[in-house]
Amino acid sequence: MALTAYDLTGRTAFVTGAAGGIGRAAAVLLAEAGATVHCADRDAEGLDGTAALIGERAGTARVHVLDVTDRARLAEAVRSCERLDVLAAIAGIMHSSPVLETRDEDLDRVLDVNFKGVLYACQEAARLMLARRTRGSIVTMASGAVDTGGAGLLCYGAAKAAVVQLTRTLATEVGPRGIRVNAVAPGWIRTPMTERHDREAQAHTEAVMTRMTPLGRVGEPDDVAHAVLYLASDASRFTTGQILRPNGGVAMPW
Ligand SMILES: NC(=O)c1ccc[n+]([C@@H]2O[C@H](COP(=O)([O-])OP(=O)(O)OC[C@H]3O[C@@H](n4cnc5c(N)ncnc54)[C@H](O)[C@@H]3O)[C@@H](O)[C@H]2O)c1
Repeated sequence: MALTAYDLTGRTAFVTGAAGGIGRAAAVLLAEAGATVHCADRDAEGLDGTAALIGERAGTARVHVLDVTDRARLAEAVRSCERLDVLAAIAGIMHSSPVLETRDEDLDRVLDVNFKGVLYACQEAARLMLARRTRGSIVTMASGAVDTGGAGLLCYGAAKAAVVQLTRTLATEVGPRGIRVNAVAPGWIRTPMTERHDREAQAHTEAVMTRMTPLGRVGEPDDVAHAVLYLASDASRFTTGQILRPNGGVAMPW
């Protein structure tokens, strides 16, 4: 396949969670592929860092300091894009609690950010793409947690499973208008989300994950960013409603 299929020159991407980790790596890579990138996050300082990286390496970035659970603010930011070819809805939070100790407020917070925040972004992006007749690509962020149960993963896994359902449903609904919708479900990726304050605990977790992973290492944000670029670009032009798993081959049997 010609590498031009990955070229996003002249296209506009909107990336949530762009202040760090996987979102930052994706925003930078999409910019390097030629896109004008709108970077959204609640972390203003992190966003400035991402915009600076894009400025150094690639070109143009716009920043939007917002909380993805604020539907009105998110809608305003998405609509500020003159056109929109790519949405990467990456913002998310981790939460772990046993089922019997899970409080309503835990469940509400995780569903608000990890599911509703993705839903709002998808709705606004798809509306804009439909209005401008853009054959766009929407990429959502699920997790390996959707493939298995896991101690403590009730809230997080439920929200990510809902993201997969949203992805497949929206793909079916907007596919006839030329818009593709796919999910990325990463394995263990080294980011601020998975960083432990205790160095020993960090080393232990990474050693366990490495042993469980056929490719013999934990993931890096760039590993996931390349999956996002593939789904965002014409390289994946006949792919929709799918889950792509950059996870080193791990089956996540915890
Ligand atoms: N790191 C992993 O191992 C891993 C594995 C599977 C899936 N994921 C998913 O990938 C995505 C990115 O995770 P990461 O590891 O880069 O985490 P991260 O904590 O490094 O980055 C998450 C980003 O989302 C932003 N964010 C959180 N809540 C927000 C809100 N309400 N409004 C706006 N921005 C908000 C944060 O400020 C941060 O910049 C998440 O959806 C996460 O669930 C991560």
